[in-house]
Amino acid sequence: MFEGFENRLAVVTGASSGIGLATVDRLLASGARVLAMSRTMGELDSLQSRYGDTLEWMKGDVTQSADLGALSERAHQMGPVDFLVPNAGIAELANGLEVSAFERQWAVNGAGALNTLSIMRERLAKSASVVFIGTFLSQVTFPGLAAYIASKTALKAHARTLAVELAASGIRINIVSPGPTATAIWSSLGLPEDQLSAVAGRVNQRLLPGCFLEPAAIADAIMFLLSPAARGIYGQDLIVDNGYTLQ
Ligand SMILES: NC(=O)c1ccc[n+]([C@@H]2O[C@H](COP(=O)([O-])OP(=O)(O)OC[C@H]3O[C@@H](n4cnc5c(N)ncnc54)[C@H](OP(=O)(O)O)[C@@H]3O)[C@@H](O)[C@H]2O)c1
Repeated sequence: MFEGFENRLAVVTGASSGIGLATVDRLLASGARVLAMSRTMGELDSLQSRYGDTLEWMKGDVTQSADLGALSERAHQMGPVDFLVPNAGIAELANGLEVSAFERQWAVNGAGALNTLSIMRERLAKSASVVFIGTFLSQVTFPGLAAYIASKTALKAHARTLAVELAASGIRINIVSPGPTATAIWSSLGLPEDQLSAVAGRVNQRLLPGCFLEPAAIADAIMFLLSPAARGIYGQDLIVDNGYTLQ
């Protein structure tokens, strides 16, 4: 489906659902081998039965250095890593002055993603591509999600400078910032059903097609930035948001 992935090795975290799962699906359909990590296997089992050994799942938590160490060790055995997507993420509703909410979300969304690259650094191929996951909310505001937005925006700032620092080592780094995408992360906010649909209704009004994105639409943008077709693109933040931030 996408060119340049045949027999290459990709590592994806947060692979058990949503955007991570859709990215693993696209990678496998494009001929890549995938080493996937998440705390649960979730919906990966259906991909496992379709693709067999080209998909390997490891149970792990990106906040645990032992788990990241095991991921790196397995990647070493499987061969150089051509593509890395540190996608694992959480979102938590919190008062904007609750600093501990930033620390909890930074541990996964920021430190978790950066530590994944750090530990995989020596496993990367001579020419490798990394896509971090930001958020459309870095462009706007969303009451209740200040700490979430801050964790993702700090990651973006970090990733853009890393893109310069690591370019000479053959590592090309970019960011995809998804807009409102129909995944489990929205229900994980813990809002009662009626409040969640009221939020979704307000969000829908700002989306040009009038509906949330499908995870596959985000996965396609990730695949593009990972691929050789994006070889001239460094340190960019590709916002894929059904037009939410335009108005
Ligand atoms: N959906 C949206 O509207 C939206 C918008 C902007 C940005 N994003 C970002 O997109 C990324 C993917 O989220 P999603 O929307 O696809 O949500 P999701 O369906 O809830 O997926 C989140 C994934 O992260 C994994 N995960 C969470 N904590 C982890 C940890 N500590 N260690 C390892 N894996 C962990 C989850 O698996 P386990 O629970 O099995 O570990 C799951 O596979 C996240 O970075 C999110 O912030 C989403």
